[in-house]
Amino acid sequence: DKGNHRHFMLKEIYEQPEVISHTFGHYLDFAESRAELPEGAGIDFTTVERLSVSACGTAYYAGLIGKYWFERLARMPVEIDVASEFRYREMPLKPGGLSLFISQSGETADTLASLRYCRQAGQRIAAIVNVPTSTIAREADFVLPTMAGPEIGVASTKAFTCQLSVLFSLAIAAGRQRGFLSEADERRLVQAAVELPRLAAHALKLEGRIERLAKELSKAKDVLYLGRGTSFPLALEGALKLKEISYIHAEGYAAGELKHGPIALIDETLPVIVIAPFDALFEKTVSNMQEVAARGGRIILITDEKGAAHASLETMETLVLPDVAPEIAPLVYSIPVQLIAYHTAVFMGTDVDQPRNLAKSVTVE
Ligand code: F6R
Repeated sequence: DKGNHRHFMLKEIYEQPEVISHTFGHYLDFAESRAELPEGAGIDFTTVERLSVSACGTAYYAGLIGKYWFERLARMPVEIDVASEFRYREMPLKPGGLSLFISQSGETADTLASLRYCRQAGQRIAAIVNVPTSTIAREADFVLPTMAGPEIGVASTKAFTCQLSVLFSLAIAAGRQRGFLSEADERRLVQAAVELPRLAAHALKLEGRIERLAKELSKAKDVLYLGRGTSFPLALEGALKLKEISYIHAEGYAAGELKHGPIALIDETLPVIVIAPFDALFEKTVSNMQEVAARGGRIILITDEKGAAHASLETMETLVLPDVAPEIAPLVYSIPVQLIAYHTAVFMGTDVDQPRNLAKSVTVE
């Protein structure tokens, strides 16, 4: 049931404040401001020398963001790859290591094959899944559910932000266990998670502006997404979302890679979506934006108030999000990224919930 919404995808985008809150509620103790992993998920991170993560598509991009968190908050090295490569790479794994798989459906063939490879190599297996009865959930030692509820739209939205919610909670738990996160830091991060649903709801209010922007984007042949830090995987996710439902070619790049190739593409016809909260990397991203502007590229800046004030350059559109703790920003910035893809696809007249050639669950290789 789509309720009042025109598509399942839009309904699922709007469900995010609620399902993110449910997911955090499952992993965080709001009253004590502590990460508290639920029954069946009691992972001991203290002995993990290196975490290996594997997933496909959007779930893989969630994992990439998780890598930044595990490394930053828990000083835990992370090895991550798409499951279709991981399963054949013959990566050496030390018995007793920890492997993490991320899958909305829990049935993705390549992810399951990677899990079985790791099982054979004597790894402990953790899985972030949205379908608790799925094969991947059944084969895991630690099941980490996302509380997104059934996701019908083929393009993943709420499952993605719920995967991020689980990863963020795990990184906090790992940080504490490994002695890298002070009590004060843990409290601050959990408080940021508590705030998140309200900030996500705030971000949804940009829909009207995004709809007008999408009309322009629907005329583009290609779109470039740029970001640094955790905004880089989000740029990859934005590009994936746009291409899969609007059929417009899009690419995501680390902003710092611009001058190593993609800058050659820039002209007046190329919209460049820059994801840049006002964080420690903001100034670096601004200099990349200036390089785009100097070549006539049309910039769409997704930032916050401070970022909008400091960027001081002309944009085709600036989307201003509420202030959010930099660590958790990807959860808020996902929302405009999803709405851009959605409304562009609506203007293109595509079948948003069932895009051509795609299946919700990819159970064959
Ligand atoms: C993108 C999308 C796909 C899936 C991928 C993995 O919007 O939906 O890229 O994310 O096929 O699927 P799961 O998470 O079910 O393993």
